[in-house]
Amino acid sequence: MRKIQLTGELSYKGLTIEQAIANRRSQRDFSGQAMSLAELSHILLYSSGITDKRHGLRAAPSAGATYPIEVYALVNNVEGLSKGIYHYLIPSHELELTYEGDFSHDLSHAALGETMVRHANAALLLSAVFQRTQRRYRERAQRYIFFEAGHIAQNAYLVATSMGLGACAIGAFYDDQVNRLLGLNGRDESALYLIAVGKI
Ligand SMILES: Cc1cc2nc3c(=O)[nH]c(=O)nc-3n(C[C@H](O)[C@H](O)[C@H](O)COP(=O)(O)O)c2cc1C
Repeated sequence: MRKIQLTGELSYKGLTIEQAIANRRSQRDFSGQAMSLAELSHILLYSSGITDKRHGLRAAPSAGATYPIEVYALVNNVEGLSKGIYHYLIPSHELELTYEGDFSHDLSHAALGETMVRHANAALLLSAVFQRTQRRYRERAQRYIFFEAGHIAQNAYLVATSMGLGACAIGAFYDDQVNRLLGLNGRDESALYLIAVGKI
């Protein structure tokens, strides 16, 4: 499967954390202008990527560093990337193309007809591999896993805002349809949360 190496840290400096928090709003209208690969890379790195290479620690906290959340990107309009569904390979900071093609209508259909996922440059699809956290935390794990998706989503909102981009969380979707798009069985790994991101 095709892999794309993502860029490291941008020299670009965005808003202060306070400004990003104050300016963050859910943006559902996207301009249609292309997003650069560096911008998508920046969002992935600072929402869920590895920020401490020595210890393998990531942008978002994780219960016992069990890292149950996987991140996929449905790409609609990113320079240098074919439309398709990509898996963010967090340890190597790469995108792996899993399905090539325009799946934006399928995702919109899965999200109860929500059109923003067709106009956003990309949608992040967060899933969980439950066993990673359940094997350590048993019945406590479920809440931890949900918290972790929230941490990553908030990071995505804030880094997008900091860069002058828009983001919107989407919780309203049919799990089984999104799982089918991602090739997940819904038991070992299941979709949890979507975040549309793009140029506004
Ligand atoms: C768990 C969660 C699920 C959400 N699901 C959706 C959704 O399905 N569709 C949508 O348009 N917005 C969704 N939102 C965004 C909220 O509508 C939005 O955060 C809220 O209206 C407050 O506006 P703000 O984010 O601009 O402050 C969701 C937000 C959260 C936290």
